[in-house]
Amino acid sequence: MTTLSNAAAAARGLYAVDAGPARLRIHHLAELKNKRQRITAVTCYDATFARLVDQAGIDVVLVGDSLGNVIQGQETTLPVTVDHIVYHCAAVSRGLQRAHLVADLPFLSYRNADVALQSAGRMLAEGNAHAVKLEGGAEVAPIVAALVAAGIPVMGHIGLTPQSVHAMGGHRVQGRGKEARKRLIDSAIALQEAGCYSLVLEAIPADLAAEVSAALDIPTIGIGAGAGCDGQILVLYDLLGLNPGFKPKFVKQFAQVGQAVVDALGAYRAEVQAGTFPAAEHTYCDPTPVAAPEPRRAAG
Ligand code: KIV
Repeated sequence: MTTLSNAAAAARGLYAVDAGPARLRIHHLAELKNKRQRITAVTCYDATFARLVDQAGIDVVLVGDSLGNVIQGQETTLPVTVDHIVYHCAAVSRGLQRAHLVADLPFLSYRNADVALQSAGRMLAEGNAHAVKLEGGAEVAPIVAALVAAGIPVMGHIGLTPQSVHAMGGHRVQGRGKEARKRLIDSAIALQEAGCYSLVLEAIPADLAAEVSAALDIPTIGIGAGAGCDGQILVLYDLLGLNPGFKPKFVKQFAQVGQAVVDALGAYRAEVQAGTFPAAEHTYCDPTPVAAPEPRRAAG
């Protein structure tokens, strides 16, 4: 049997079974959960990093409102707007071929079903996202249902929800204690019933995350929620060590890219100052022979 290449399958809109999906879609994430294969996810905000993320075979890319922190330098995610996410999502989409692309709905952009439909519609139509993510528990289930009814796949997000930082009294671990555990489990089930295809669990005890993951049919993606989730997500800049000073308990720096950048810039600065950059191989010349100037004739 001939196996279609990923590119050929993509061009024909087919799913190349033997080669794995050319484009990861929401049903592939459900299949990964069923096969007990862990889902890999990262945030991303631009096309250059998106190309690298895709090359690494990451399954899910989130254009998170964490861009407020890591791109804009804001203290919270609250100032991020729909325009900001649409702009970055469109850029990321140009760098991706395989990964499933999710756009975060920012603060107050889904405060009712009409606003949510407008915001989410822009994420898909202008940002080229395949799905949206929104924060909140059972109280946002009607909004999820309205989006899903309009054909917009929704990823939920419970536990520590940074858009509610002030209501939560800071960035604190959630789901501790009997009441809070029950509320979180009830919310997870309500979101699944409302039509979420996946659920982010942020900063909750590992045993609670494992219990939620086992109770749900849809895949869970954890951040600071232990290894019992169906997948993991980290902010790209955190896992690359781009902000070496930022290292909360749940972050592992898989590289020291921040230091590599400082070292490269230091080398550039030194060579410019020494006059060794640009060298001959970085310099253009004009290959057209320059005519020798006419010898001057003596006057008279
Ligand atoms: O905005 C974001 O980056 C997120 C992830 C950390 C889940 O919501």
